[in-house]
Amino acid sequence: MTKAATQVDSSTAPVFGGRRLSRTPVLVAPSILSADFARLGDECRAVLAAGGDLLHVDVMDGHFVPNLSMGPAVCAAVHAALPEAYLDVHLMVTDPAHYIEPFRKAGAAHITFHAEVVPDPKALVAEIRAKGMSAGVAINPDTPASALIPYLGDIDLALVMSVHPGFSGQSFIARVLEKTRAIRAAAPAGLRIQMDGGVSPDTAPACREAGCDVLVAASAIYGTPDYAAAVRAIRGG
Ligand code: DX5
Ligand code: ZN
Repeated sequence: MTKAATQVDSSTAPVFGGRRLSRTPVLVAPSILSADFARLGDECRAVLAAGGDLLHVDVMDGHFVPNLSMGPAVCAAVHAALPEAYLDVHLMVTDPAHYIEPFRKAGAAHITFHAEVVPDPKALVAEIRAKGMSAGVAINPDTPASALIPYLGDIDLALVMSVHPGFSGQSFIARVLEKTRAIRAAAPAGLRIQMDGGVSPDTAPACREAGCDVLVAASAIYGTPDYAAAVRAIRGG
């Protein structure tokens, strides 16, 4: 049995809503955006073996963000290679509704879309849940917490972007910590709050202190030789 398989434990508490993962309070979500795409299966396996809890799949359409990344075919290939891996799909696209079914078919366990393109998320959240996945809503660094707070009771995960989305390897924008604290204060018990962008062993403690319990990292994991040490340091004590 692979390490990834051992981490998906059906006897423990649900993480986002739909499927179940480990009991670890702070989850680390390696973003495969910084993986070596020529060896993607091995790179996914390696970060799970290193202790990563879920695989963060960054989907970009060249319109909502100024870059293109990966689509359902890549997600499906990862799912086929690692069927037990929890695939956390982050849609940085202008029309997320168009991609819910393709990513369900591709094995996504969770889908996050952006409040900037879907200001009232309830219908899309309901559609994602009806398809057996959990649902998150993301806000960019310049989007206020008020775009998210009215809907915290309707979602499984709130994602606070700590870089302007589009590229890995950018610097952490510390001013988002303040609105993260406001979101945590307003959140119902058990809501997962994810930070994404510039998260590293140096910036992760502030994210955790602000109330985040799902930490995404691409370059801080894939850019180091020791993935396990990076995952451990980001997760903290
Ligand atoms: C940014 C993506 C992030 C990105 C993070 O647009 O949503 O998930 O991969 O990369 P790092 O951790 O290198 O900032
Ligand atoms: Zn992301």
